[in-house]
Amino acid sequence: MIDFTARFSPRSFDDREVPDEVLRQVFDAARWAASSFNDQPWAFLVAPRDREDEWRAILECLVEGNRSWARGAPVLGFSFARGVFARNGRENRHAWHDVGQASAHLALAAADRGLQIHQMAGFSTEAVMEAFEPPEGWRPVAGIALGYPAEEPPANRPRGEVEEFVFGGAWDRPARFV
Ligand SMILES: Cc1cc2nc3c(=O)[nH]c(=O)nc-3n(C[C@H](O)[C@H](O)[C@H](O)COP(=O)(O)O)c2cc1C
Repeated sequence: MIDFTARFSPRSFDDREVPDEVLRQVFDAARWAASSFNDQPWAFLVAPRDREDEWRAILECLVEGNRSWARGAPVLGFSFARGVFARNGRENRHAWHDVGQASAHLALAAADRGLQIHQMAGFSTEAVMEAFEPPEGWRPVAGIALGYPAEEPPANRPRGEVEEFVFGGAWDRPARFV
């Protein structure tokens, strides 16, 4: 069984750089996510710290509350979603869902290698669009800070109970098995 509790969102990172080979492995995990019509409507723009201009351009798109801790991350990035299917240009209602799945793969693969990612909604979409000019139809979904964590997962990690969100065919009636 995958240890889901091993993944968490750190705010402090070790100075250690992440080898390109390891980065490749964790992004390879994203490749294998399920997606509607196998459209794979995700893209990741990623900069290790030694690509200084690119790394800083990503940092500058974050809101100050995130920038303050994310500047300690050796790798920064953004996920993007393509809102239309590649095959026919029709709206893909599940694009963001699929980017989320790919990102979850990425997060678990990272945790499996002693790394962690911290995803961020706190960024300026306009700034990302202006700085990186994604192709038509692509929008940024989340900022990503990635690296070896310099902290332990918090002792208290609030989570709802399974009974509270797994229903048995009628809303608010917990499923039999929970
Ligand atoms: C889409 C998304 C957006 C998030 N945005 C932020 C953010 O802007 N700033 C932040 O500090 N954490 C952000 N987080 C991290 C969450 O707060 C964190 O995942 C949640 O508190 C659960 O903690 P855990 O990931 O350590 O289990 C975000 C997480 C996700 C998945």
